[in-house]
Amino acid sequence: MRIHVVDHPLVAHKLTTLRDKRTDSPTFRRLADELVTLLAYEGTRDVRIEPVDIETPVTPTTGVKLSHPRPLVVPILRAGLGMLDGMMRLLPTAEVGFLGMVRDEETLTASTYSTRMPSDLSGRQVYVVDPMLATGGTLVAAIKELMSRGADDVTALCLLAAPEGVKVMERELAGAPVRVVTSSLDEGLNENGYIVPGLGDAGDRMYGSAG
Ligand code: URA
Repeated sequence: MRIHVVDHPLVAHKLTTLRDKRTDSPTFRRLADELVTLLAYEGTRDVRIEPVDIETPVTPTTGVKLSHPRPLVVPILRAGLGMLDGMMRLLPTAEVGFLGMVRDEETLTASTYSTRMPSDLSGRQVYVVDPMLATGGTLVAAIKELMSRGADDVTALCLLAAPEGVKVMERELAGAPVRVVTSSLDEGLNENGYIVPGLGDAGDRMYGSAG
């Protein structure tokens, strides 16, 4: 497993406003969306392409297009939904699958409550979007599910990551073709499993605490 922390002043600037507890939900959603697009630019660096012949108004030439099968984007519900549009802006022809996962706040373990994805992901590049890589439990379970369906190249895009979660992923997915792209590797987790300094509960900050 590889991790890539995107080091860019615009990413740092947007992330600082996201972290600020005074930032309201509409602004939080807009900034998360913008941040994902910047992460997606980095995260799709290895997206598969193939040559294509075209004609410009001046001359025939060879360019590239995205390969088939098309990439699959998988938001992890609920908070991953807030990252979907930003991802699809860069990969508009990607298909979308959904994984509903919930974290037990006492045991911090993840369980799946809904799955809508193709059963065969052979030869597909998959982009999982989940804002917070905290304990790593949710992402490990999600990526194992994708690989059990044949995915052979998985990139996880996370707004923030904690070193504890990265360690768990490195242990559980050792040698697997998995990459994590994030805007910050934070200090660590607190006793409630929240990332420090973090940004709080990403789902609540996007959508409120009703869900
Ligand atoms: N999930 C969140 O929404 N925030 C954290 O800090 C950790 C997990």
